Formats: sequence, structure tokens, C-alpha cells
Amino acid sequence: MSANRAADGRQFRAYLNAREDRDILRFIMCGSVDDGKSTLIGRLLYESRLVFQDQLAKVEADSKRHGTQGDNLDLALLVDGLQAEREQGITIDVAYRMFSTDRRKFIVADAPGHEQYTRNMATGASTADLAVVLIDARKGVLPQTCRHTTILSLLGVRRVIVAVNKMDLVDWSRDVFDGIVAAYGQFAQRLDVTGVTCFPVSALTGDNVTRPSTAMDWYGGPTLLQALESAEVATGRESAPFRMPVQWVNRPSADFRGFAGTVASGLIRRGDPVMLCPSQKTSTVKRILGPDGDLDGARAGQAVTLTLADEVDVSRGDIVASAADPPSLSDQFACHIVWMHDNPLLPERPYLLKIGTRLAGAQITAIKHKLNVSTLEHTAARTLALNDIAYCNIGLDRRIAFDPYRELRETGGFILIDRYTYETVGAGMIEFGLWRGDNLTLHQLAIDKPARAAQKNQRACVLWLTGLSGAGKSATANAVERRLHAMGRHSYTLDGDNLRHGLTRDLGFTDADRVENVRRIAEVAKLFVDAGMIVLVSVISPFRDERSMAREMMDEGEFIEIFVDCPIEVCEQRDPKGLYRKARAGQIKNFTGIDSAYEPPENPEIVLKTGERSVEEVADQVVDYLRSRNAHGAGERSEVR
Ligand code: ADX
Repeated sequence: MSANRAADGRQFRAYLNAREDRDILRFIMCGSVDDGKSTLIGRLLYESRLVFQDQLAKVEADSKRHGTQGDNLDLALLVDGLQAEREQGITIDVAYRMFSTDRRKFIVADAPGHEQYTRNMATGASTADLAVVLIDARKGVLPQTCRHTTILSLLGVRRVIVAVNKMDLVDWSRDVFDGIVAAYGQFAQRLDVTGVTCFPVSALTGDNVTRPSTAMDWYGGPTLLQALESAEVATGRESAPFRMPVQWVNRPSADFRGFAGTVASGLIRRGDPVMLCPSQKTSTVKRILGPDGDLDGARAGQAVTLTLADEVDVSRGDIVASAADPPSLSDQFACHIVWMHDNPLLPERPYLLKIGTRLAGAQITAIKHKLNVSTLEHTAARTLALNDIAYCNIGLDRRIAFDPYRELRETGGFILIDRYTYETVGAGMIEFGLWRGDNLTLHQLAIDKPARAAQKNQRACVLWLTGLSGAGKSATANAVERRLHAMGRHSYTLDGDNLRHGLTRDLGFTDADRVENVRRIAEVAKLFVDAGMIVLVSVISPFRDERSMAREMMDEGEFIEIFVDCPIEVCEQRDPKGLYRKARAGQIKNFTGIDSAYEPPENPEIVLKTGERSVEEVADQVVDYLRSRNAHGAGERSEVR
């Protein structure tokens, strides 16, 4: 790390830690290098003198050598230089830069402008109080201007400053400026962006950026910097109702139980009534502890530990909220999703969702429409690709407390995480909770699973056979069932091919369809288990995520994953249905093992080497497994004795 970077980091942290200093404006700069974005940021940094001397000396030298501005300083080199430095280090999504004037401090998020960086822009916008949208005066409102504005609106940035740049290249023309203002206004009014103000500027000359322009006497308003200095900093977070996601429960001794976290919004004072969510238990705040001891109150941004007057059960991920104005609760939401990963979003695939400090299992239950962010058109979609934005329904595995994102970002915004790699794959903004969450309850059946299984004198389970087409899953299932039947067991086979004639006949072989195929079959398997049956499932089920989802749907020990492990060469040679031949000839698309992935199980209960052993042998292996497992669980009822 260079000295600059270290100094940069220290200053940045100092800014962020200056919680007592309220006058910080966070804004995002939207535009591309072509619009003069780097020059504009460079100008703001330069004029505010927040540039280190050695950087400046380098820019002076570089301006002479490769600058595009003759003898003048090429301020773009300043920002692009910092960027190059940043790219050599760990890749971060958005560059945050600071500068300050006598009136306030600024943190500007500088996200790349092109379409392939939508996710970066969304990241930068998610913490911004305001946005500066840059428009090249010669080009006017472009699709990318609309895209930026739509993303800002979705991410809850309501205040927009439009900087119409390069006015020097259009002869400082008022008509050009007015035309752009009108065109932009027309687009913005279709969105949830209200406070739009427009500025004619030249980042290159500095006109109307930091000093009033003599070239545009028709313009009587403030400079861009004045506007940034006087823009109202979002007080929203403090005037919003109190919310504090619990980071951890601090219990050093039996007589102290504190709930530690950072106040996400609002204010809290000693004695305030609070509601714990999702349990909805109420209590009052007894003590508020800061780093230096007891406090009378705390506000958004402060990290504190709260103790409560009553013994209530609180755990990490819960929200301590204002009792007078609590959040809503639901497990189903309508939301906007920004997809951020190269692997597509697949509906019904299990992901992890993180909202505040709460982690939950989540599935996109429907993609309602994809949004064309440049035109606002809605299109149908079955999956989402990197940088797509869509309106979706999402279902969680538990009820959580939330606020609509437009009301409160802190408790309305979430990220989606891959269950295996823990990478962030998407970000979402909750619009509202769906009725199902509150109005559906589970009807208790009079006869339960153990009673049903006991009547059949067996223990219910799923034998989940996964493997390539032609590996021998169905043949093995048949042979196992024959044995079970002969032993008087009650079983049934759910066979992928057979079900595709009915239950799943609307599905094909895309990744998205396979996810849904396996989900439905797992649901049916669960019902069979509930009915006390031994159910054999014979489906390729190529993806680990869905197989683990099926496992998690069953009770402990009920799910027996059987990897029908046969080399693809052998499957292809057997080719019982002639499908490999067709797939090789290009007549079938998305064929497993050829142009569609198969992810072998990592820890299956049983591996059947069907390339080396006969169907009868592997069927015995399965039955032996069931026998030995039941021998260990002595006294328990068994699938097989
Ligand atoms: S899964 O991938 O969604 O689990 P499933 O087991 O239901 O697949 O169906 C696989 C069966 O469909 C195969 O046994 C084969 O007979 C048939 N099939 C037709 N097209 C394909 C394909 N493109 N890929 C795999 N199997 C296919």
C-alpha cells in the first residue's frame, strides 16, 4: 500500500468515525468518463485542496505529457490516476472520495457509468443522500441518463442535481440548456424523483462549478458547489421511527443482558417503550451504554448496548423498535431486485437473504417483470442476468420485521447471498409485504407423521437418487422397491420422467425449469414422508442447492441422498433412450453432462457405482444401508428389518 493510500484510508476512516459531525453530505456522481465525470470530481477535489501535494505534482507532469488540455492541468488525470491505483489493489466496487469546504464535508461515490456497472452504481446509490447526474451538453439526455435516474429512484435517492456539462462546447447556449432541462424533467416525472435542480457548468474551465460563470450571464442561480453545500442533508434517518438490529447479545454475567447494535434510524432515550421483533414482545429501555458509559439517549449511526426493564428473549438478527411505530412483519414480499452475479438468478433456488443483521433462507417465488431501466418498459423474464433489475416476489423461511424501502432503507433493503460461496449475488428493496405472510396458517392434521408410519410399521424416509441420465437411477429404484415390497414395506417412486407427463409437464430443461422441477418433486416427497411412506425419488436433480433444499425440507435423518455414480462415457454408451446421440447431434439442447451442468453430491449417504456393479448389487447395497442404520437406532421403528 502506498503512503497515499494509507493516508487516504486513515482520513476516510476518520471521516466515517466522526459520527458527532453531522454535516456530511454523501452523494453519488453518475455519468461516464466521456461526460467529464473525472474532470468534475477532479475539479471539486482540486478546488477543495483535498489532493496530496505529490499527486498534484504528478498530475502537473502528466498533464504536460499525456493531458488533453494543453498547458492547463488535466484534472481528469487526477481522478483516473487514483482509479488506476485503486485497480491495482483489491478490487472494490465503488470508489469513495472525500473533500471538504468551510461549510461541510462531502463523501462522493464514484461508480463507473456504463451498463455493465449497474450493480456498482446501485451499491453507491444505496447510501447516498443526493445524486449528481452528469449530462454532456452536446449530447443531451441519453439512454444512460435515464438508466442512472431510474436506478437512483429505485435505490431511494430522491434528490437529484443535474450538471449539464461542457457548456463551453455549445457556446454557453441557454437554449441548449433549457432543452435538456425540459427533456430531463419529462423523464424524471415518471419516476419517484422529486427534488431536481439543473446547473449549466463546465468542469474543464470551472465555470459554475466552484465559481460563478461570467460566460453565462443569463444564469443567475448558485454554483454547483454552493448547491452541494446548502443541500439539506437527509435528516430522514433521525426523524424516522427507532430501529436497532441486534448485532449480538452481550451477557457477561447472569445479572447483565445487553443488546448491542448500531441504531439504524430514529432516536432512543432511557425509559422509551420498545417492541422486540419479530416476537412483538414489549418492554422499556433501562440503560443505554456507549463506549464511555451510560448515555441518556442515542441516535441513528451510534453503536450502543441497550438493556431492558423486562426479561425478554432477544437474539441476533432481531430488531429493537419503537413500540409506538413498529415495523411490519411478513415472510413474503414484493420487491425490486438488482442482480449482481454472473450466474443467473433462478426462481425457487434457495438463497440466503441478509437484512440488517438477520439472515434467512429465501427464494424468488416469481419474477413479475424485468424493468428496462432506460425506457421503463416492462418485459417478461424467467431468469435474471448480471445487472438486470426486476420486480419480484420473494418468500422467506421465517417471518421478519421490515419497513418498505422507500420509507426506511436500513430495514427495507437486503442482499442475497449464494449458499455455497457466500458471495453477494443480488440486492433488493422491499416494496411491501404480501398478504400470504399474515393470513395463512398451518392446519394441524389430527393424525401425525409418526402415527401414520407406525401403522405401516416403518419409519418414513426419502431415498433421493441423483445422477446423470442413463446412470441407472430408475432401474435401481425399481429393484429397491421390489425388495421393500417383498418385505412388506410401504413405498412409492417419484420418477422424473413419469412426473414430466403430469405434475411437471409445463417444465423443460433450462436451469430455471430444473430448479422448479426439483422443488415440486421435493414438496411431493415431503407429503409422502408425512404420510408415513418410504419414498424413492429418481430425478437427475443436477444442482446441489436444490438437493440441499430438499434435505432441509425433511426432518433430521429422513433424507438419504444416493449418488448414482456412473461415468458419463458409460451412460453415453448405454444411451437407453437414444438421447445422448441426439444431444451430440445438437437435436436436444441443455442435455445434462453435455451442455448443461451436473454437480455431484459432496456428502451423499450412499454412493452406487453403477458403472461397475449390477442393478441387483446396488439395490442390495441400499437395503443393507437401511438395515444397518436401523440396527444402530435400536428400539426405534425401522424402514427395514
Ligand atoms: S431434472 O434435471 O430436472 O432433474 P428429470 O430427472 O426430471 O431432470 O428428467 C430427466 C429425464 O428427461 C431424463 O431421464 C431424460 O429421459 C429426459 N430428458 C429430455 N431432455 C433432457 C435434457 N435436455 N437433459 C436431461 N434429461 C433430458
